[in-house]
Amino acid sequence: MKKTIITSALPYANGEIHLGHVASTYLPADITTRFLKLNGVEAYYICASDDYGTPILIQAEREKKTPEEYVKFWNKRDYEDFTAFGIEFDFFYRTSSPENISFVQGIFRKLMENGHIYEKEIIQFYCEIDKKFLPDRYVIGRCPYCKAEEQYSDLCEKCGRVPQEIEEPRCSICKNPPTKQKTKHYFFKLTNFVGELNEWLEVDSHLQKDVKKYVQNWIKDGLVDWDITRDISWGVPMPLEGTKGKVFYGWFDNHLAYISSAIKFLNDKGLDGKEFWNAADIYHFIGKDIVYHHYLFLPAMRIGIKKEYKLPDYIPTRGHLMLQSKKISKSRNWYIGLKDFLGLYPADYLRFYLTLITPYSQDDLNFDWDEFAARINSELIGNIGNFVNRALGFTQKTLSGVVPSTNTFDPADKDAQDKITNLANELTPLMEENSLDKALKKILEFSANFNQYFQKKEPWKGGDGTENCIFISVNAVRTLAITLFPFLPQSSQRIWSQLNMSGNVSAQNWSSISEIVIKAGHKIGEASPLFKKVETADIQTYKSRLGK
Ligand code: 2FM
Ligand code: ZN
Repeated sequence: MKKTIITSALPYANGEIHLGHVASTYLPADITTRFLKLNGVEAYYICASDDYGTPILIQAEREKKTPEEYVKFWNKRDYEDFTAFGIEFDFFYRTSSPENISFVQGIFRKLMENGHIYEKEIIQFYCEIDKKFLPDRYVIGRCPYCKAEEQYSDLCEKCGRVPQEIEEPRCSICKNPPTKQKTKHYFFKLTNFVGELNEWLEVDSHLQKDVKKYVQNWIKDGLVDWDITRDISWGVPMPLEGTKGKVFYGWFDNHLAYISSAIKFLNDKGLDGKEFWNAADIYHFIGKDIVYHHYLFLPAMRIGIKKEYKLPDYIPTRGHLMLQSKKISKSRNWYIGLKDFLGLYPADYLRFYLTLITPYSQDDLNFDWDEFAARINSELIGNIGNFVNRALGFTQKTLSGVVPSTNTFDPADKDAQDKITNLANELTPLMEENSLDKALKKILEFSANFNQYFQKKEPWKGGDGTENCIFISVNAVRTLAITLFPFLPQSSQRIWSQLNMSGNVSAQNWSSISEIVIKAGHKIGEASPLFKKVETADIQTYKSRLGK
């Protein structure tokens, strides 16, 4: 059996999950996992909260909580929100787990043994007022590369690069210019890996071409060694003598939790976690803001331990979600929390809309309330909901729910049957290449064809073609239920129940989508409308709440 491990960027345990998080990362990863499982792959979706780093420490301090208490709260809350959205992790752990801590320390030692770590005295920003070293987010200033203002010292959100030294620095707590003090830090020799990174980028055909180019240019511009330690109290402690008070930088440890969490999960299942990892296809789903870390740091660290854990096969990278064509910003209240959204509409509405607007590329996407309403009403309800309800409602009302036997197929029947038998050939490659938006559009096209077929055959007139039409349509509904499962898990199970099929839809075989499985004499269950219309007046209200 083919094996796969899927991860998605670990969410910081630092605030609620919003629509921007789920569109590019968690939803595509969830759809992919569900598809692979239906398609007979032993696939596991692993995630964890990203618990370390200065922003979390800063926020915990503000809220007068210990960082442990603070991350525990968000780990639980994030997991609950994801679950309500139908994101089904096989395991959701945390970067602060004992397993990850010892794993990270072990990897560091191996990198050291292999000559990829060195010590260097550096000058660090220090705030005389707050009496502390100021790594990363503790300092704000101008990006030395693209000159964007108000960037944190560890990552420019404008150009995606990691600045070596931010210009015109200020302390993010008290806003005063910091002084500089000496401290000893450890560095990862990223520059040791130029050749091997280039080779990996060149040879690995699954990586997205546009992202690859981007990264190859960064390498051409020149890489710099990477400062992996911090003088703060919250992080994975450094395991060497004389390093008390130093922890690893969050980006040194967080992606290692992909591996340590997977290994724990698999070992607990009675499998050999390491063996599984190395035999599996590895997917890391990310947003384009963290390409640098996933295409350079992460592979270099795995190469640096002699590929004891294999490198990713796929790093599906998608763009940022805009909201009403403006950048999402929590501080300006220009965002929609996932939990809030799910208080308004079912998870499947959001999964449907986000999938349709999210291409498999780095292009940004846009959540628009009016478009959301229009597409739910016309495509989800007007197309899919309509066909399912017509086919099953008619069978129920006119034939007491019993699927009729067929007689000779006319060309329209044959064509409709072909639509079912050909669907796997058309749809499966789109799912496999991660073109999830195109795949969902293909399913909509399938459903639209069946609406037309139903309309053309006019079974309500009770003519000769009625039995064939109902027989084929009910089978098409079954195909729809299975193909929709990765995208709309709740609705697809409801269709499955209305069809009165045994077992759960999640236990079906993807390949059976192109088979005529429901036979004459099968009695379907209770048919009822699957969806409720989105009202324009409500949309206006929700729109007006933004930014307030
Ligand atoms: O950018 C972020 O939100 C990070 N928390 C992602 C971490 S992914 C990792 F673990 F590689
Ligand atoms: Zn920049």
